[in-house]
Amino acid sequence: MNSEPTTALITGANKGLGLEAARRLGELGWTIFLGSRDEGRGQAAADKLAAGGARVVMVPLDVTSDESVTGAARLVREHTDRLDVLINNAGAPGRALHPAEATADEIHSVYDTNVFGPIRVTKAFLPLLQAAEHPRVVMVSSGAGSFAVVTDPDQPVSQMHELAYSSSKAALNMLAVRYAQALPEIKFNVATPGEIANRTFAATDMNNHTGQLTVTEGTDSIIRLATLGADGPTGTFIDRLGPAAW
Ligand SMILES: NC(=O)c1ccc[n+]([C@@H]2O[C@H](COP(=O)([O-])OP(=O)(O)OC[C@H]3O[C@@H](n4cnc5c(N)ncnc54)[C@H](OP(=O)(O)O)[C@@H]3O)[C@@H](O)[C@H]2O)c1
Repeated sequence: MNSEPTTALITGANKGLGLEAARRLGELGWTIFLGSRDEGRGQAAADKLAAGGARVVMVPLDVTSDESVTGAARLVREHTDRLDVLINNAGAPGRALHPAEATADEIHSVYDTNVFGPIRVTKAFLPLLQAAEHPRVVMVSSGAGSFAVVTDPDQPVSQMHELAYSSSKAALNMLAVRYAQALPEIKFNVATPGEIANRTFAATDMNNHTGQLTVTEGTDSIIRLATLGADGPTGTFIDRLGPAAW
């Protein structure tokens, strides 16, 4: 058994749910690689967690840049020879344009963060993940990425007309399933931060703090998947309350 602290990289961890996940996993004694596309904001967040006793390394990481992702993998490798947990959390909401107004360019920029970003990061960190005893990847998705939720007339999202965000998260869900099938030695699971049945989500900058849940509540599903034991599932989708419908 490896007695070294568990290591986790979280993308977009300078604020919101990523920062709260970093705080909670840091409290468990894990070594946190805190990804942030802005070095100043990332370092400020890392310093705050370190002042609270966490073992944390700030990693400059813009998920839309191959160069940045390669540099991040190089930096993490300087600190560890394995990565136990990767949390693909960084996300962009897009401009919520009506489908009649949406353009491929606008959608492309959202996909660059929400879909191509997790692919870039997962690919770059695969060797470090594969060197871990029981590696886990958590994809931070959304109820808006669920066909079951979006086609339920009782869900508010069914009345919110946009293309980019919901379809990017649906693509992310499929990525997780396909990775899980192809790489059984790594657990790939999907978390949505809200409670689908209660139509609630977590208050963060992304929703102008209109969410009903705290960031601690919003990270419950993420923490559950990040801390799965070796006998835990792969290829699943959960919210705070339990299994979520695809
Ligand atoms: N809040 C909810 O209830 C809720 C519900 C469903 C899904 N989610 C998902 O949860 C995740 C976290 O969102 P949040 O609510 O915590 O929102 P947030 O507070 O706005 O945080 C988003 C994070 O993503 C980072 N980010 C954006 N583009 C990036 C890029 N290209 N490279 C690296 N980092 C980037 C942001 O960095 P900057 O500070 O530099 O912008 C920020 O750290 C997202 O994937 C979101 O879609 C949240």
